[in-house]
Amino acid sequence: MNIEPLLSAILSGESQPPTHLVAFVNGVAEGSVDLDTATQWLKAVHQHGCTREDTVLLTQTMRASGAILTWPEGPPVVDKHSTGGVGDKMSLMLAPALAACGCRVPMLAGRGLGHTGGTIDKLEAIPGFKCQLTPEEMVEAVQSVGCCIAVQNQAIAPADGVLYALRDVTDTIDSLPLITASIVSKKAAEGLEALVLDVKVGEAAFMKTLDDARALAVSMVEAATGLGIKTEAQLTDMNAPIGTHIGNALEVMESIEVMQGLGSADTRELVVLQGTALLTMTMEIGAAEAEQRMRTVLNNGAALDVFQAMCVQQGVDPSVASALVTDPQSVLGRAPHQTTILAKEAGHVASFQTMAMAQFARSHGAGRFHLDDMIDPLVGFVLHRTLGSPVTKNEPLLTFHHTRPLEAEEMSRLVQFVSVGSPSSTPPTRLVMRIQSSQTKP
Ligand code: URA
Repeated sequence: MNIEPLLSAILSGESQPPTHLVAFVNGVAEGSVDLDTATQWLKAVHQHGCTREDTVLLTQTMRASGAILTWPEGPPVVDKHSTGGVGDKMSLMLAPALAACGCRVPMLAGRGLGHTGGTIDKLEAIPGFKCQLTPEEMVEAVQSVGCCIAVQNQAIAPADGVLYALRDVTDTIDSLPLITASIVSKKAAEGLEALVLDVKVGEAAFMKTLDDARALAVSMVEAATGLGIKTEAQLTDMNAPIGTHIGNALEVMESIEVMQGLGSADTRELVVLQGTALLTMTMEIGAAEAEQRMRTVLNNGAALDVFQAMCVQQGVDPSVASALVTDPQSVLGRAPHQTTILAKEAGHVASFQTMAMAQFARSHGAGRFHLDDMIDPLVGFVLHRTLGSPVTKNEPLLTFHHTRPLEAEEMSRLVQFVSVGSPSSTPPTRLVMRIQSSQTKP
């Protein structure tokens, strides 16, 4: 295929000829565009960017390259995407909580990327949980229990499958239009009415600065809105770990605690924030009512009931699912070693070395370095005190759960992961900024 018209438009900052762009993306999906040609195009977009119209058309065409879920008349179909954080377990609670509020949630999720955990790796810590669902199985699961969480697969947006793999080996991952089209095309293939995008910003996020996070949020909101999806991006702070548990099985445990009406207030706030946005975008209710509904289903066991039903629907033995929601550790297990760090002095928790903690857990098997690495689901951290909490001398600050013993050098790093100091004048908050469809118009 001759991609000269595409390349010359990219170089001159103009929109690419639509029919050529569509033919190119379809050719990539079908394998009729060779990889060298596709690489040339990727490098041009990576270096020079492309117009908003191109990004929307690219997203639209990538979505149309595979199955698009269709839904019978009924409750709103909604979902969220997160750019990935440390302790970011929101999907495990959000999907069942929204289903308990009367929505349908066909969630496609990924595995861990770099230092961040992936929803699919967390769910696979549950014995028997099956994440490989066909599009038909996704629809059946959602129609039956209200939500499902399935791994991204080749049936959905296959053009992204080819381009993403090629971006990985051609150093063209970090491009706003390419990230946007990749993420939004898969979400849009779920047949959504509304989408919330959690764009993490901070030391332990892929986007370190507010400007970069805002640019990605605007680009994704524009693309999703261009495809007719009501969308809100929430820029949220990713300097301290989210909630109290980090690690695959440990995050499942914390999520169950939150759905038992207990658990971390920090985790609960983020789930409520995301759910409230989706309920207000799709139901005739205001934010206060939406927030109340989210809190109610987390506290009264309704979200936990849906979570249990989703586990059974996706292959977990009913007796295992029942034990999981009452005593999660009895099903998920516990790492052979726990090392607890105590406060050397009294004060307030001033900071966490969040990125270093995530990398530390990853080096013990909580994440991968190579595609075929095995995850150790039991590895991770439990925080006994969160950011800003008062602590007394010798009180436990955090516990590291691990399978292989710690080396002396690792022990000295572990004690530095949390620092205690004077109280902060401002209480920590997660939400930094919202960007809605109406705000992205020129
Ligand atoms: N996740 C995706 O699915 N695509 C990207 O490009 C980046 C993150």
